[in-house]
Amino acid sequence: MQVVVNSPNVEYTNKYIISKYDYQYVEAQKEESSIAVNTLTEKLMFRTQRKVPKLGVMLVGWGGNNGASFTAALIANKLKLSWTTRKGNQDANWFGSVTQASTVRIADEVHVPMSHLLPIVDPNNLIIDGWDISALDLAAALKRSEVFPPDLVEVLKPHMEKRKPRAAIFNQDYVAENQKSRADNVLNGSKLDQVKTLMDDIEEFRNQWKLDEVIVLWTATTERFTSIVEGINDTAENLSKAIKSNYKDISPSTLYAYAAISKGCTYINGSPQNTFVPGLIELAEEKKVFIAGDDFKSGQTKLKSVLVDFLVSAGIKPVSIVSYNHLGNNDGRNLSAPEQFRSKEISKSNVVDDMVASNSILYKPGEKPDHVVVIKYVPYVGDSKRAMDEYISEIMMGGHNTLVIHNTCEDSLLAAPLILDLVLLAELFSRIEVKKLENEDAEYTKLHPVLSVLSYLCKAPLVPKGTPIVNSLFRQRACIENILRACTGLPPETNMTLEHKVP
Ligand code: NAI
Repeated sequence: MQVVVNSPNVEYTNKYIISKYDYQYVEAQKEESSIAVNTLTEKLMFRTQRKVPKLGVMLVGWGGNNGASFTAALIANKLKLSWTTRKGNQDANWFGSVTQASTVRIADEVHVPMSHLLPIVDPNNLIIDGWDISALDLAAALKRSEVFPPDLVEVLKPHMEKRKPRAAIFNQDYVAENQKSRADNVLNGSKLDQVKTLMDDIEEFRNQWKLDEVIVLWTATTERFTSIVEGINDTAENLSKAIKSNYKDISPSTLYAYAAISKGCTYINGSPQNTFVPGLIELAEEKKVFIAGDDFKSGQTKLKSVLVDFLVSAGIKPVSIVSYNHLGNNDGRNLSAPEQFRSKEISKSNVVDDMVASNSILYKPGEKPDHVVVIKYVPYVGDSKRAMDEYISEIMMGGHNTLVIHNTCEDSLLAAPLILDLVLLAELFSRIEVKKLENEDAEYTKLHPVLSVLSYLCKAPLVPKGTPIVNSLFRQRACIENILRACTGLPPETNMTLEHKVP
């Protein structure tokens, strides 16, 4: 059910939804004793292509816990499966997906699913494929993950056992030593040979299913960080040369992204490592291909970016944030190695920076709360990750407030809906074009290739160079919602509800 807006500013053609939009924003300059503020209005025209493409997604790390859980959820939802639990029957659903399970307020008591604002790919029509260094078929991978109950795994088996991950690029130097035993499905040859194979894989998948679009998403093992080296990965040209010369320090994830971008496919990074070296970002910009990342914002960090926002915006000063995690899945095993843990630590560390910097009453310039992140591997708990957080805040007159939060849940059941949202929203935002109306000759352009509008789903959002990073979850969600509203011809959600306040 699509929302249809009756407004002189919106036009529905066969091909497009076209919406005229006054974007109001503010520029401000701090002066000695005042702040000079200019309010500005940009007249924009949004154009959203109505035809939804036949979309395929290729997961890197398809046979991992996230990859197998996502595939299982896609099939279970498509087949409307239901299974027995100790509490009775459980139907398949997409809880945790902002596109499938959250709503947007249109008017008093009228809320619609976010997916009804603009045409968006139906998850039931999504085609899936991918790579994994482990050759296990998807039914066996689902069993290995120990995420879903055995009954459901059995029902899904005939739908999953024929799906086998394609051979993958593997480099032991980038992941923990303990991952070696999984690697029985790997590509040989030079880096260039491997990139070419990935490009052929993408092409084959596209042709096999007659797809209009393919999105590649990394949900594979966390890699160590790559050094940024002048002459190697600092420009698109140097990166191409380095691949051709088989330079040793190029991460597998950068090679996947390079192959995807070269084929014009959006690439999304669900892990913390710095796949997007400067040369790769330049390549995406040159080719006008979308990239997004980094690291799914699923549990502890999501809550942190809500809680610290609440505290700081309430005038309460968080001074110590300590987060312990223990988990027993393969991700936890890999993160037990120092270099891979370091990638995660970096990605988890900066998530409160913008909120802290926004309040100069609480924090002096450069002052930050103590912030420590610990991750331990405890095999017994499997995918059921435990996150324990202690937030100490200063309240009025030197008082203290300590909040202790214990969070237990299946990690992959939080991540799988984010994979769906990332793919569906990346595709939707790729169909949106915009032009500035004051310039008569202006042409429609796509959004910036660094798709920062997906920050809501990412722990360490990648943004266009020189633009601010927003971590606050509600601001990130409002950004998605308000852009979708603008394209539909609806005003932004201001929550003023003046219609009820002004007599
Ligand atoms: P997992 O270890 O179960 O799955 C990763 C898969 O990637 C494995 O099957 C492995 O064989 C495969 N793999 C490793 N290197 C590869 C390569 N070069 N090419 C292709 N496949 C490769 O881990 P899980 O739990 O599925 O997590 C996946 C990633 O998502 C991890 O990096 C994790 O840090 C990240 N993540 C997970 C979150 C969650 O809530 N589950 C939240 C945030 C990030």
